[in-house]
Amino acid sequence: EKGGYDYFMLKEIAEQPKAVADTLLGRIDAAGSLRLDELRIPPRVLRELDKVVIVACGTAFHAGLIAKYAIEHWTRIPCEVELASEFRYRDPILDPQTLVIAVSQSGETMDTLMALRHAREQGSHVLAICNTNGSTIPRESDAVLYTHAGPEVAVASTKAFLTQLVACYLVALYLGQVRGTKWGDEIQDVIKDLSSISGAVERVLKTMEPVRELARSLADKNTVLFLGRHVGYPVALEGALKLKELAYMHAEGFAAGELKHGPIALIEEDLPVVVVVPSPRGRSVLHDKIVSNIQEIRARGARTIVIAEEGDEAVVPYADHLVRIPVTPTLLQPLVAAVPMQVFACELATARGNDVDQPRNLAKSVTVE
Ligand code: M6R
Repeated sequence: EKGGYDYFMLKEIAEQPKAVADTLLGRIDAAGSLRLDELRIPPRVLRELDKVVIVACGTAFHAGLIAKYAIEHWTRIPCEVELASEFRYRDPILDPQTLVIAVSQSGETMDTLMALRHAREQGSHVLAICNTNGSTIPRESDAVLYTHAGPEVAVASTKAFLTQLVACYLVALYLGQVRGTKWGDEIQDVIKDLSSISGAVERVLKTMEPVRELARSLADKNTVLFLGRHVGYPVALEGALKLKELAYMHAEGFAAGELKHGPIALIEEDLPVVVVVPSPRGRSVLHDKIVSNIQEIRARGARTIVIAEEGDEAVVPYADHLVRIPVTPTLLQPLVAAVPMQVFACELATARGNDVDQPRNLAKSVTVE
């Protein structure tokens, strides 16, 4: 049932191009517009929304953090993302003009379920993004957009994460489409790029051998840091989470701009630091800033592991290890940038002799608060 792979996690990583393609299937029509018929919230309600709140835990929370960038950019609706376990305990401001999106692979996470129940009690509309048909979270929501990743068995989420991102992008683009924003043209272009993104994920997967080799060579390290900016910041958080849960190592993700406000003090000789570099096109200011960050940490002895777009030559002199990812629109980069991190964590954990499918102390679905 592992389809020839040693672990479910390896199989699920390899299934990502298909999972992404399946999640898009039937949702983009021939004219390049989105068809989200299952989104049973009336367009009138969607047009009147004045806030989106995303609640989720763990990896799904990281998908939500990325979604915020897309939702605010394409729809101009303010979007908050909150850990589901914190949400209802702080008396959040909710009303019928708020769309609450609950993201959950299993659909059974108690923290997320309690957050959505709270939101519905306050009269907000709740949309579930979920991978498990008929599970509790979609049953208790007003509408559901299923991710079509197929069953995810390994405790560490991989293909579900990528499909959660796809579903979040679809919701953001659909809100933009329904409400008509000034980004109309950009939205059309992104829908096109999204429809071919599974090929890009496939390409990344084919180039992972050096990442595996690197991971094995770091098996005796104690700490790995992850840096990113913009949508690369949540990707860094996700990279760190994968390493914690699989390799049982100390790993932390930081927004690269925060380095100088404290974390740079952690940099020491030979400390591995993974950096997700934004595209040099588009928001090129951010690109240049992160290149300076890489220079700064390298000057202090860090071993830099740089994940950068094909053709980005500016990073080459400062990268001890360079991982190339395909060129994508800025907001879609997490779909390709997350993949090397999954492979890295899986291989490092295996090299340390850990059970990657069933890490210690963790359960696939967390049904207690
Ligand atoms: O089933 P859910 O998506 O609601 O689960 C949320 C988290 O428990 C989950 O993403 C967890 O963080 C994973 N083990 C991460 O790999």
